[in-house]
Amino acid sequence: MNLRVETADGVATITMDAPAKLNAMGRAFWPALRDALAALEADGSTRAVVVTGAGERAFSAGGDIAGFAELEGTAAKREFQRDCMRTFAAVEESPLPVVAAVRGYALGGGCELALACDVVIAAETAVFGMPEAAVGLVPGFGVLRAPSVIGRQWTKLMAFAGERVDADTALRIGLVQKVVPAAELAAAARALAGRMAAAAPLAVATGKALVNRGVDRGEYDHSTAALTALHGSADAAEGIRAFTEKRPPRFRGC
Ligand code: COA
Repeated sequence: MNLRVETADGVATITMDAPAKLNAMGRAFWPALRDALAALEADGSTRAVVVTGAGERAFSAGGDIAGFAELEGTAAKREFQRDCMRTFAAVEESPLPVVAAVRGYALGGGCELALACDVVIAAETAVFGMPEAAVGLVPGFGVLRAPSVIGRQWTKLMAFAGERVDADTALRIGLVQKVVPAAELAAAARALAGRMAAAAPLAVATGKALVNRGVDRGEYDHSTAALTALHGSADAAEGIRAFTEKRPPRFRGC
């Protein structure tokens, strides 16, 4: 997937740009987002970032499920999980404040990316979900982070039952901080990021690190190991195959 980066008045907008695939995140996406963020952190003029998706239908429908089947062997699966986790960590630990601007679907990795951002602004059309269990997986970062944002039970409802959450519900449970009409999303996100960009950068970076204190890197390793094992299961192979064959999966619990 292409990433477009545009900067104006200290606010950079990173757009995930593969609308025909609902901005699904292929393998190249994860290092690309880290690199884009690192370049903005280093440019000396960017003070805040907006992450959004191209098109009307999706922020992102998550990891490229078809691509999961290409990850052969444990080492490749582990490296992929590590790569995803590194990217969520890069967003969460960036000294720049990052605003997610969500229109349409934010599923799987899309929902996790929103969780990694500092603030989420959503269009009325936004739909959040963590449906990975339907393909034999779980959202490795989402299950770590969502409990502290929306609570353990909401996390389980979303991650095990595939519960989809609309914009108003997302606002109520704390997954989203502001809801605006879809036509106003881009301008509202830029304005919100602009307010952060106008604040003292060191104060924002220090405050962000303090709010996020206690992030345990050991958790990332634990999740990576668990997801690597899960990805190697017969159920994950079946779930991924069923998605690409556009049929319901037949899980056997192994
Ligand atoms: N990975 C790979 N491709 C994806 C994708 C994903 N996560 N999400 C959507 N796409 C692709 C579809 O395969 C389809 O491609 P095609 O036109 O070549 O067949 C295209 O994007 C449009 O999606 P489609 O499913 O036709 O749209 P829809 O309106 O019928 O359904 C969704 C939309 C989001 C409900 C559905 O695409 C979906 O369930 N996606 C997977 C979400 C998911 O499980 N994410 C977690 C990943 S672990």
